[in-house]
Amino acid sequence: MRIVSSFRDFAPEPGPTIGLVPTMGALHEGHRELVRRARAECDRVVVSIFVNPAQFGPNEDYGRYPRQLEADCDLCAAEGVDAVYAPELHDVYPDGFSTAIDPGEIASEWEGAFRPGHFRGVVTVVGKLFNTVLPTIAYFGWKDLQQCLVVTRMVRDLDFRVRLEFVDTVREVDGLALSSRNAYLEANARLIAPRLYSELKRSGEAIEAGGNVQEELDQSRLVLRDAGFDIDYFAYVDMKSLESLDTMLLPSAVIAAVRLGSTRLIDNYRLHRQA
Ligand code: PAF
Repeated sequence: MRIVSSFRDFAPEPGPTIGLVPTMGALHEGHRELVRRARAECDRVVVSIFVNPAQFGPNEDYGRYPRQLEADCDLCAAEGVDAVYAPELHDVYPDGFSTAIDPGEIASEWEGAFRPGHFRGVVTVVGKLFNTVLPTIAYFGWKDLQQCLVVTRMVRDLDFRVRLEFVDTVREVDGLALSSRNAYLEANARLIAPRLYSELKRSGEAIEAGGNVQEELDQSRLVLRDAGFDIDYFAYVDMKSLESLDTMLLPSAVIAAVRLGSTRLIDNYRLHRQA
């Protein structure tokens, strides 16, 4: 008999490695990049497609979120995905469903403050996906930086047996981060939208080069407001705690959420000289 003190001491049965790419569908090149990483690193690749109502607020875009299962399955087939897991609402949330994961403090600011309940919905469904698919590795995009950190904390705190891999944001040639929600952008907003990333990058690089944090953030906020953006937040944060920083510390990132008309965009710039 052995006495063990960590769940890691229970070695899982050796078997094929499973890579999971959790998505809400409307797949684009950013998702394709996640799938390719999974395909290169795992024996089996599963893509989940589920528009999760629990992570949308009452006045958000759950109803109009793009749904295109057939096209998504074509993309998955072309990338050699072994299985698409596309559950129905009642498969994920059966009658009487009442349990949820509380993501705690790391989910309270930024997206958490502007979208109350959002991360509770995210980690609950991600936890369910992990339990259903039992992935060896799960792949997420850095575009949703806070989501990456919130899921990391959940996996650590609740001893999920999964490794997380985060993949760089894929961008249009003009810098706009790919997102299923870009489909909402009207023609004029689409022209302006890339300025979000140019300001994230400009202020991030200036801070990296020793510039004053407050001055750089203020300058970017001014430029974006002048261009027509409504800013929910534009902040420089510690990548571990997500707390605001007023002097450069690594690892860190400039993060933002903005609105252009009825479209809300989020993006970030991670400082390159990461610790
Ligand atoms: O990033 C997303 O698309 C969603 O938040 C996720 C991780 C699939 C959970 O619904």
